[in-house]
Amino acid sequence: MTVTRATLALAMALITLPGCQKPAGPPRDSVAAYPADWPQFGRTEGSQGFSPLTRINAGNVGQLGLAWSFDLEPGHSVTAPVEANGVVYLATRHSLVTALDAVTGKQLWRYDPHSPEVAGLKLRRAWGSRGLAYDDGRVFVGTMDGRLISLDAKTGKEAWSVATGQPGDDRFITGAPRIFNGKVLIGHGGGDVVPTRGYVTCYDAKTGKQLWRFYTVPGPGAPEDEAQAAAAKTWHGEAWKAGGGGVVWNAMTYDAEMNRVYIGTGNAEPYDRSLRSEGKGDNLYTAAIVALDADTGKYVWHYQVNPGEEWDFDADMDMLPATLNIDGKPRKVLMQAPKNGFFYVLDRETGKPISAEPFATVNWATKIDLVTGRPVEVDAARFHGKAAFLMRPTPTGAHNWLPMAFSPKSGLVYIPVSERGVKWADPFPDYLPRLPEGDHSYLKAWDPIRQKAVWQVEAAGPFPGGAIATAGDLVFQGQMDRSFNAFAAADGKKLWSFDARAPAIAPPITYEVKGVQYVTVITGFGASASLFLQPEQRITNLDYRAMPRRVLTFALGGKATLPPAPAAPAQVAAPDPDFKPDAARMSRGAGAFAANCILCHGINVVAAGAAPDLRYSPAVTAMENFASVVRDGALLARGMPRFDELTADQTEDIRFYVRARARESADVRHAGVKPSGG
Ligand code: HEC
Repeated sequence: MTVTRATLALAMALITLPGCQKPAGPPRDSVAAYPADWPQFGRTEGSQGFSPLTRINAGNVGQLGLAWSFDLEPGHSVTAPVEANGVVYLATRHSLVTALDAVTGKQLWRYDPHSPEVAGLKLRRAWGSRGLAYDDGRVFVGTMDGRLISLDAKTGKEAWSVATGQPGDDRFITGAPRIFNGKVLIGHGGGDVVPTRGYVTCYDAKTGKQLWRFYTVPGPGAPEDEAQAAAAKTWHGEAWKAGGGGVVWNAMTYDAEMNRVYIGTGNAEPYDRSLRSEGKGDNLYTAAIVALDADTGKYVWHYQVNPGEEWDFDADMDMLPATLNIDGKPRKVLMQAPKNGFFYVLDRETGKPISAEPFATVNWATKIDLVTGRPVEVDAARFHGKAAFLMRPTPTGAHNWLPMAFSPKSGLVYIPVSERGVKWADPFPDYLPRLPEGDHSYLKAWDPIRQKAVWQVEAAGPFPGGAIATAGDLVFQGQMDRSFNAFAAADGKKLWSFDARAPAIAPPITYEVKGVQYVTVITGFGASASLFLQPEQRITNLDYRAMPRRVLTFALGGKATLPPAPAAPAQVAAPDPDFKPDAARMSRGAGAFAANCILCHGINVVAAGAAPDLRYSPAVTAMENFASVVRDGALLARGMPRFDELTADQTEDIRFYVRARARESADVRHAGVKPSGG
């Protein structure tokens, strides 16, 4: 099967979630601010993922039960809800926003930005919304087509909407906007396929007026300011023509003490440095943490985790500001566990590393040199012109966007960690990630001062869920095996577990309404490529339509129940008596499928929850149905992109290939053999 470079890059990337300027005073970000609510991603502006609530605690969590559930339709649901003033807000699918009464689970309103209909080519990037934000009577959400939208939190009516991208660009929004000081900050995805100059933009939360923008990589023409001039010196040739990258698709953190924002930037684009920067240079500010003045967006400092990045090692993972006692002195630090496997503790006043140690298996570098701040790479990691290199971690990261949490009470950081390896080979277009059996994942409690794991529990499958910590000495985290769990913050003992009937890896939240503490998590899963996900299909039913997706809310003494998990659907291919083998068609169809369809429908047509498994789809056996879905966009509003550039013949090639795969799968199943491929 031909897998184009662009498709693979994309697959790798995808698998890969008030008032005016505040004067000095107690930092808004302290745990004392809005203790009852969870108004944005990670709860506070500093995104620590920690709640000071204690009604549900290590002593009574055994009595936690389901208070209510709310059924969601098929589509993306690995997303972080928020809660404010007794209302839970969530953005599922392509930013479909739902407001639910937190006590009863009753729907208050819904808002649909109709993103699939206007997203055009961007809809092909799979994904959906990973979260939203609440502030001062407004809800904020980004869309796949690049809009940032503000809604009236009471009614769901649009207050304002701005286009954050440029006409014809590849910038799309999946991440949650972050709010501080009456401002909204948003970045974008898109630094993997089409040359894209990454940026973050800050808007006035009331009006949507643009306040500032910071570019993460230089553009063509004269540098806009000193920060861009400094970055331009680290690129060679006409870099902007080939790529750029550094997109901020997730991590943005406000530091109230210093009135700064930290942004985490993505991989350099394209991955191969020889194609973008004559094979040299650090390529700032990709794969880096950049500190910006929160009022002006002006550069303050940067720390690059991977200079001259070539492995999709984003630093887009959450960054947690804290004050830690290091060598007897309180130090203002910023902590990040990016994809590359090192846990960084930076001095957030200067951006200098204080310590950096591996929190997962790392074989691309021996250590981080704290004097230069640079990783000491092993030679084999720059694999161009060398033997293939089985690298750990992978482009999906030792830690990805599903957040870690920091408990100031236990002093520990709770990290969802993946242990995986991927083979990189030269020439690049021919590499295929090969995942050794026995991938593992963990929830790790990490001591950021000693840079050591204190405890770890193994999680099912390679993708462990996002974690939160509470002052009730608990860590909540769900897993692919459908369990949603509470662990003792101190030693990792599992104190409570609930069968969520579907994977529950989305970041949970906790909040209090009228003296009752609740915990909410959204269930469901959809991988954009089955290539990484074969093992899970054996542990859970990931069928796009059959898998239940729900909002689950728990309280002490909750007595609500869920229907049993549905059995996996029969997966029988529709009768197809007219099918006749044709090798040439098969090969053309396989190529076109790989180039256009695998992200959602899966490698070798084995789907993993992001879209229906086409081998068993009745829409495939009839040519007209198939063409109306694929070329005319009959299911566009439901998230199936329109491929109107495909000719009738190419569409038939794809349909032929899908039918062939359906027969193959059926035949092998009958013979009692594991289906090939994937
Ligand atoms: C960005 C994700 C995405 C991509 C890329 C994509 N699809 Fe889909 N596709 C979907 C989703 C989601 C649905 C289900 C829509 C619904 O709810 O009915 C779907 C449904 C379909 C269906 C109808 C299946 C059924 O049983 O209802 C067909 C046929 C189909 N896609 C073919 C293709 C082909 C062929 C390609 C490549 C040319 C492709 N799709 C690429 C997301 C995608």
